[in-house]
Amino acid sequence: MSYFRPNIDAMEGYTPGEQPKGDDFIKLNTNENPYPPSMKVYDAIREEVNTNLRKYPDPVCQAVRDKAAVIYGLTADQIIVGNGSDDLLTMICRAFVSEGELIVQPYPTYSLYEALAQIQNAKMKSIPFTEFNHLPEDLAVPGAKVTFVANPNSPTGTVVSFEELSEFAGRIKGILVVDEAYVDFGERNSLPLVQEHDNVIILRTFSKSFSMAGLRVGLGFAHPGLIHGLMKVKDSYNVSRISQAAALAALEDTEYTEAMIGRVRSTRGRLVVALQVLGLHVYSSHSNFLWVRCSQPSAKSIYEELKLRKILVRFFNHPGLDDCIRITVGTDDQTDTLIDALKDLMG
Ligand SMILES: Cc1ncc(COP(=O)(O)O)c(C=O)c1O
Repeated sequence: MSYFRPNIDAMEGYTPGEQPKGDDFIKLNTNENPYPPSMKVYDAIREEVNTNLRKYPDPVCQAVRDKAAVIYGLTADQIIVGNGSDDLLTMICRAFVSEGELIVQPYPTYSLYEALAQIQNAKMKSIPFTEFNHLPEDLAVPGAKVTFVANPNSPTGTVVSFEELSEFAGRIKGILVVDEAYVDFGERNSLPLVQEHDNVIILRTFSKSFSMAGLRVGLGFAHPGLIHGLMKVKDSYNVSRISQAAALAALEDTEYTEAMIGRVRSTRGRLVVALQVLGLHVYSSHSNFLWVRCSQPSAKSIYEELKLRKILVRFFNHPGLDDCIRITVGTDDQTDTLIDALKDLMG
């Protein structure tokens, strides 16, 4: 006998990338930034720890919203803050999708969307990409309450155009979530959609470009009416004091973040060339990772061989994904070690 709802019993649960114990791995499997956050973030955390921990945090993260509003050219009532963007994804499913209703995603994409649909006991329809840089033609499914589009996508790192997303948002009846977790590593974002469409939610995270995956902060941008509704379903104090202070400090030092993004981009360019020289097919990346097709040796054996050499990349043991590995762009030194290991094992 089980105490759980049948859909919870039936689901496997989201599998996050491996987090090995100890520091002896070069960790290129979960798209973390290889550089630390701004020193201002550390200062803000220290200050917060020393003064305010006994008090609850601001439930609506007003200081972060005000600062983000200035930086992103929005108003604070168009912004919600989450405990990572995963928290915002949970709120979205809770707020817009009842049991048995429909969520749509292109495939492949971020696998948490599917897990959240299962928790909600919603139906998930996955529409395969035919080309990674275009939305699938039949993505507009009648009755879909929410459509998730990660842009840049994971695990492919590819993007679809702003124009395509805008046209799609105008055509569907439900909510379009554009998950821009990796957008800062690309060239263009979809922020103007929020001003043009009242059914679009754009998600950002501090986990990637701001190097703060351990702190868990995400932003959602949308029409004030949507933000107001999402506020009703969030946990009451969903972002800790430390995380709010850190996020504010990070937004006050975007110059630093820009500089680190520049380093990641330049290492990405070098890594692409090195992988191509090794004969591997690399998909065009607008993010801080590369989706790399392998044939001889297989993706699985490259993943395993790299792991033996203490380099962790991501291998997805799923049909349609198991001929590729996903490699996070690390520091220059980490990248050199990776390239040497690949030369060794492919040579
Ligand atoms: C596409 C995508 N969206 C959201 C997230 C989650 O980000 P966060 O750390 O803000 O929860 C990830 C994490 O890897 C991701 O790949």
